[in-house]
Amino acid sequence: MPLVPPPSPEGHGYAGTFIAFEGGDGAGKSTQLRLLADCLVDAGHDVVPTREPGGTPVGAAIREVLLHGEHVDPRAEALLFAADRAHHVATVVRPALERGAVVLCDRYVDSSVAYQGVARDLDASDIRSLSMWATGTLWPDLTVLLDVDPARGHSRRDGEADRMEAEDEVFHEHVRQAFLDLAAAHPGRYMTVDAAGAAESVHKIVRARTVDLLGLHEGGGP
Ligand code: TYD
Repeated sequence: MPLVPPPSPEGHGYAGTFIAFEGGDGAGKSTQLRLLADCLVDAGHDVVPTREPGGTPVGAAIREVLLHGEHVDPRAEALLFAADRAHHVATVVRPALERGAVVLCDRYVDSSVAYQGVARDLDASDIRSLSMWATGTLWPDLTVLLDVDPARGHSRRDGEADRMEAEDEVFHEHVRQAFLDLAAAHPGRYMTVDAAGAAESVHKIVRARTVDLLGLHEGGGP
């Protein structure tokens, strides 16, 4: 898969910490994000849980078009995800990082690379460049990849399938492999967790790595 160069090793330079959660549909990202947010709040951190698409009022409107509307041309789809991200980073993520918060984001640039770049077969490095332009090149400190077999993810889903969930198995297999390739290319920036297990055991693994990243002691304060 064509990948543009990895993020600069210096990081974003803000006082805060930026952690993204990625994975296929039904991987349990939202549950894991909530469990981690609760434990960081208990440890005294300023935590900003957020998501893409839809982490802002503008983004909520874009999300509706993207997931529950009529057919959207793939290039228009890529631009809409990038537009949601640009507004979200400018108005939520960057200000939170500037003030020193821990930002936990349900999906980020890698979702665009995996879904639009690889599974929709738009060029993966174009898609990544588009998001880098949209965000002013803001990379997470850590990306937690929750890896799950798409069939299992599918079985965890409730409610009616949205536009992306309704794609076929091959599409979701490509998404999964793209995430795994991204994580393998930049092991220092990713943790890949087998998300098939119980939520609490997955959480323990995610928490241990985050504690390391934030320089916390298990159960201790910031
Ligand atoms: P999400 O709300 O995380 O759905 P789920 O909880 O079912 O995983 O994400 C919505 C959908 O949007 C999901 O199918 C992935 C897709 N998506 C993209 O295709 N590109 C992107 O850049 C992002 C952020 C999400």
